[in-house]
Amino acid sequence: MCGIVGYIGGKAAAPLLLDGLKKLEYRGYDSAGIAVVNNGSIHAAKERGRLSALCSLTGDGKSISGHLGIGHTRWATHGEPNHVNAHPHISIGGMVALVHNGIIENYSELKQFLIKNGYSFVSETDSEVAAQLIDYYYKRQHDPVEAVRLAEKRFAGSYAMGIVFADREDEFIALRKDSPLIIGLGEGENFIASDVPALLKHTRRIIRLGERELAVIRKDGVTIFDKDSNTVKREPVMVTWDADSAEKGGYDHFMLKEIMEQPDAVRRTIAPRIQHGRVELGLKRITEAAIRSIERVYIVACGSSYHAGMVARYAIEKYARIPVTCELASEFRYIEPMIGSNTLVIIISQSGETLDTLFALREAKKRGAHVLSIVNVVGSSIAAESEDVLYTWAGPEIAVATTKAYSTQLVLMELLAVYLGRVRGHVDERLEGELISALSELPSIIEKLLEDQAGLKALAAESYMQRDIFFMGRNIDYALALEGSLKLKEISYIHSEAYAAGELKHGTISLIVPGTSVVAICTYAPLLDKMVSNIREVKARGASVIAIAAGEEHRGKTGANHEIILPGCADIALPCASVVPLQLFAYYTALMKGCDIDKPRNLAKSVTVE
Ligand code: G6P
Repeated sequence: MCGIVGYIGGKAAAPLLLDGLKKLEYRGYDSAGIAVVNNGSIHAAKERGRLSALCSLTGDGKSISGHLGIGHTRWATHGEPNHVNAHPHISIGGMVALVHNGIIENYSELKQFLIKNGYSFVSETDSEVAAQLIDYYYKRQHDPVEAVRLAEKRFAGSYAMGIVFADREDEFIALRKDSPLIIGLGEGENFIASDVPALLKHTRRIIRLGERELAVIRKDGVTIFDKDSNTVKREPVMVTWDADSAEKGGYDHFMLKEIMEQPDAVRRTIAPRIQHGRVELGLKRITEAAIRSIERVYIVACGSSYHAGMVARYAIEKYARIPVTCELASEFRYIEPMIGSNTLVIIISQSGETLDTLFALREAKKRGAHVLSIVNVVGSSIAAESEDVLYTWAGPEIAVATTKAYSTQLVLMELLAVYLGRVRGHVDERLEGELISALSELPSIIEKLLEDQAGLKALAAESYMQRDIFFMGRNIDYALALEGSLKLKEISYIHSEAYAAGELKHGTISLIVPGTSVVAICTYAPLLDKMVSNIREVKARGASVIAIAAGEEHRGKTGANHEIILPGCADIALPCASVVPLQLFAYYTALMKGCDIDKPRNLAKSVTVE
């Protein structure tokens, strides 16, 4: 996601901030900015686009003097990626400047409060609201720590922040909850950053700021306070990473890093959409009356996004009772889709730029459908052209094979299914509460699944020499089988096919010979017995079967050669949990084969040709 850097010391701050931001470019961003305190005022520069534009604007930082400053690369969430929405945000009057990673979920309510108190706003961001609220309290307390803490008490959401004050040239504040922030300790200078690479050139002595801790950063020292204002003593750790591995957060590949980021990504996607025990999506144009009149849904996407759509089809039909057709975007335009004003077309795209998907969207609009898109990149073409858009908050994804963007698509589509169900009168308050709590448990379930990867590594070691690996499942597990198979083939180059388990005997079973590997996904309990029969069928032909089931009570019941047992969870949460071992299996198999995991041959992250 966004990057943060902060500096106080004897050197010129601006060039140093720009250099630190360069080291965070790998995180992805669409605008950048810096703010430096000098002679009682804050001097800021911001630019849309690449950091090089900001460097040209400021003569590589030389045009802004001062020894204390903060910098930011922004990955747009609230509001378009443009100059005004770029960080740092400065309060009216110019007293406070702030850089922020995360989301202040209750920003509209805080904005109203501030407007009543005479504040005005230039950007659409939640972060500007945070800067102004700190200013509001600073005017009353004139103490930076007090002001930040009073403002923080009113924040709901996640935040890593660097905050400077025009009249404080000897210190600045760092604060965090949920989003990471580190402090780098130097000699006569100190730093903050959202990630290690920004600091490696200057120091390897790092302190990780804990949850809800606040730090006062001075040239000659750092004081950390916990949420109850007690002083925290913490020894710095020495970072030994080389610069390249640091950009991957210490992981060997972006893909593994992104797999590991899933608990946070899923949490970020769900949390702002649960309000007062209900799913609230904040659709701006598609009204509840329109939703009640929908007679048919098309879900249109490519690749993994299409697979997320296939999972969603089950959820929407189950909870909202609307017939759903899932179409590949590249086919959609040529099938003469049956669309009218009572059709909802849901477009799913991580990049928001996939050309086939964009053309499908235009086709749907031309035919008069309501068009809702599920997109990860704010301000992308698909987002801009849709009637309504819901963003997955996965953050930038760098590995070509999608992982965290896919899982956030899944949870967002599940939330959409619950919402549609409630509006259409099929999901009552009790059921909505149950579904929400099942989805809210997902981040900790995924965390647990990521803790121990030894079993999957061992399975990959057994399978990586295979020529073919088949995947099978029924219902939601079939949709998952398609994704597991795609993940494996795209990064390991092992031939793989996914089948609805009941369909296997209509052809593909002829390919099963002694020693063939089959992955059987059987997490959906109502169809477990049927899957057990399918496992028997392939084993009878000599296949070696890895089964993925959910719930300890099913251990030893699948009849497979190997079992992966997920924690038991409600059907609505299952797909997002089941995909994790599939991703890890693909990753470790490709690793054993020595493949170029983050950039598999012939594939592109964003496909902008037909
Ligand atoms: C490419 C990527 C896939 C992605 C698909 C659709 O094939 O490699 O990971 O699922 O495009 O992309 P979109 O950005 O529209 O989700």
